[in-house]
Amino acid sequence: MENRGFEFKTDVQGIGTLSVDPENRKRSNGGKQTASMAEDGSVGLKRQVGLLGSIALIVGSMIGSGIFVSPGGLLAKTGSVGLSLCVWAACGLLSIFGSLVYVELGTVVPNSGGEYTYLSKAFGPIPGFLYAWTSISLLKPCETATICLAFAKYAVDPFVDVNAVPGAVKLIGIATIFFITFINIASVKVATRVQIFFTIAKLLAIAVIIVGGIYSMAKGKTQYLQTGFEGSVWSFGSIAAAFYSGLWAYDGWNQLNLIVEEVKNPYRNVPTAIFIGLPLVTFCYILTNVAFLTLLSPQEIINSPSVGNLYGDRLLGPASFIMPLSVAFSTFGAANGILFTSSRLCFVASREGHSVDFMSFIDAKRNTPSLALIYNAIVGSILAISLDIENLIGFFGFSAWIFYGATVAAVIRFRYTLPEAPRPFKVPLFVPIVVLIMAVFLVVAPVVQEPQIEYVYAGSFILFGLVLYVPFVHYKLVIPGMRSITKFLQILFQALPPESSIE
Ligand code: ARG
Repeated sequence: MENRGFEFKTDVQGIGTLSVDPENRKRSNGGKQTASMAEDGSVGLKRQVGLLGSIALIVGSMIGSGIFVSPGGLLAKTGSVGLSLCVWAACGLLSIFGSLVYVELGTVVPNSGGEYTYLSKAFGPIPGFLYAWTSISLLKPCETATICLAFAKYAVDPFVDVNAVPGAVKLIGIATIFFITFINIASVKVATRVQIFFTIAKLLAIAVIIVGGIYSMAKGKTQYLQTGFEGSVWSFGSIAAAFYSGLWAYDGWNQLNLIVEEVKNPYRNVPTAIFIGLPLVTFCYILTNVAFLTLLSPQEIINSPSVGNLYGDRLLGPASFIMPLSVAFSTFGAANGILFTSSRLCFVASREGHSVDFMSFIDAKRNTPSLALIYNAIVGSILAISLDIENLIGFFGFSAWIFYGATVAAVIRFRYTLPEAPRPFKVPLFVPIVVLIMAVFLVVAPVVQEPQIEYVYAGSFILFGLVLYVPFVHYKLVIPGMRSITKFLQILFQALPPESSIE
């Protein structure tokens, strides 16, 4: 491996070493723990995310807009109540399987960076770089834009007709991106608290939906549920499309693996958060869908751009404003989670020499990756202005599953290349195999069934990374003017490369 610093530094216990984190400091300075910058003058990301924060990061990133928007899409694509509920459950199971693989990956290679880190370590720098390139330049800002636009839509909805003011929605979406960026630059602790607060809020909203559903069922409102599998569409293409809608709602199950180096006691907290978070979300999603079907007909759900609000109107009457508010809360929390983790991916890729240097610079006072956060906000805003939500989600699913598939294959490879690595949880082999088969199906089925030019764009975009890899990573060419830009940004934002000291 040629590129700068690519060897992952792991010590005997396998704890990732961003040498400024308190636990590693402890070892490197003779056991004297220097937990904060104030004491030791070091600048870097610290382990500040506990178990609650970890669960909130997973649950709060997964529950965003999808559960309030996708039910109609799933019903339309599958054609029946029965099949759509099966797809919801299958998406949950697939996400649970995926996350079980990530539990093992997180302990075998306990570094931040998620897919980027695993792909690089398992298959070499090129796949890692292709992932970093695609994610940093498109996927992550695309998630940010989608979710902040959804927030804006729901925040505006109770007051004005959303379709009448598309400009306002975009403007509020972009303002939200920058507001969340500001919170994340200010402090990791505050960002984590925001995440916990909004996660609790959205779980309460979902509890209201589910209790309403149980109440309606008790009153005998099961006529729509009883239609079962009538009208099911059994075509590969449409089932794959239904999966994409469902999987968008579940997406976010991998988020904790992006920040492993900032999780306190990662060997315990990463698996525990995943074991609690995933079944919880799956359970909530299935019951929420059943609840919707007690008060709304499948056709109503298909026609409504926001099932959540429609259901709220029926269930809560005069208190129905609670629903759009809850959805707005839900999307805001998810956006916070995405910005938090996206900036860490930029940080790690840059640290390994796979992205421009300034992305790994840390705010000298606040110990947050400020420049990566600002980069995400800017690209996210540009995407928010130029694209609409539907395009974003379609592109996202296809590209994301190419990399999820490759990443679960890494767990199998590590069994051979890193047989001695710590595996407090060893995933049964059939699990990554099932996820891998599903990933291939999800990527291939839509392309075969309904070839669309977007897939060619997505594929070419990923491969274009190779054109960048050769000069900038392999031959370490510096983009002309980059040094001055880096210096300028460093002074402007008072940011330092990680591991530097500010004496
Ligand atoms: N599942 C979320 C939603 O329903 C979207 C997640 C976006 N992706 C992510 N990696 N956080 O809105």
